Amino acid sequence: MALPPILKNLPLPAIGSPLFIISNPKLVIEQCKAGVVGSMPALNARPAELLDEWLAEITETLAAYNRANPDRPAAPFAINQIVHKSNERLEHDMQVCARYKVPIIITSLGAREDVNNAVHGWGGIVLHDIINNKFARKAIEKGADGLIAVAAGAGGHAGVKSPFALVQEIREWFDGPLALSGSMATGDAILAAQAMGADLAYIGSAFIATDEARASDAYKQMIVASNSDDIVYSNLFTGVHGNYLRGSIVAAGMDPDKLPESDPSAMNFGGSAAKAWKEIWGSGQGIGAVREVLPAAQLVARLKREYQAARERLALN
Ligand SMILES: Cc1cc2nc3c(=O)[nH]c(=O)nc-3n(C[C@H](O)[C@H](O)[C@H](O)COP(=O)(O)O)c2cc1C
Repeated sequence: MALPPILKNLPLPAIGSPLFIISNPKLVIEQCKAGVVGSMPALNARPAELLDEWLAEITETLAAYNRANPDRPAAPFAINQIVHKSNERLEHDMQVCARYKVPIIITSLGAREDVNNAVHGWGGIVLHDIINNKFARKAIEKGADGLIAVAAGAGGHAGVKSPFALVQEIREWFDGPLALSGSMATGDAILAAQAMGADLAYIGSAFIATDEARASDAYKQMIVASNSDDIVYSNLFTGVHGNYLRGSIVAAGMDPDKLPESDPSAMNFGGSAAKAWKEIWGSGQGIGAVREVLPAAQLVARLKREYQAARERLALN
């Protein structure tokens, strides 16, 4: 499987995935320094003018780190763009990304040729996230370089497919970069993703319980205290199906077992989405493996140890 140079030789084959509201430059920098691709949604920089400042902080800090550590440079970083029509900032945010030649752009919600061409114009690559094989083909036809297969059990907007089915179907026709998303929070799971045919694991919820994450202490503690039984799949909050913490739905005064269906035309990623996500906390099913709030570097160190132990257990080396 051909990986572009930027994704080759990562210390750990994983991406710290973008988390609405929660990811921020400090988390991205620590993820990259620890050896996984760090990422954040452009929309987390509010107001929009803040994105320039944040990209300056990330690029300058990582460049200084790489000068000081030429033998173990930081992993590259990625910026997530919601390319859905409700994102009125897309053009502005793409211009800022162009200025900083962001190495990896992660696109969500509808592949777009113009966005892909713009990223290629500055030498970056595009990974597009999808929940089924049909959307995967569309994304590659429109010029994305790689795919993020979002399987059942992922935090945030998740699909319903088994990761085995999704990766197998995509690998029948696509041999480019493929990340697998959904319920991974151990090094063992990262190796399993590779054994299935993915190149990289895409890990979100586990990073919510880190010191750097911009989430309340109560949210971090609920991630630590919960497991897969506490995850509810609903389209009520944004118009798209996603996974959420049962405890946060109860705290908002709703019955998680009797949530009404949402109207899909209500899909919106502007201000009302931010409000919904502040109260209703997203999480994937893999959080049973998250037992404490740690600095992100220590979480990545645990994942590395487990990954290596799993390799040895399977006598890979
Ligand atoms: C709280 C939360 C917010 C998220 N926000 C975004 C986002 O803004 N953009 C995006 O592409 N994915 C978003 N995701 C999805 C993740 O990037 C990723 O697909 C998912 O977290 C992986 O599954 P896991 O949480 O089980 O590790 C979000 C996930 C969570 C839990």
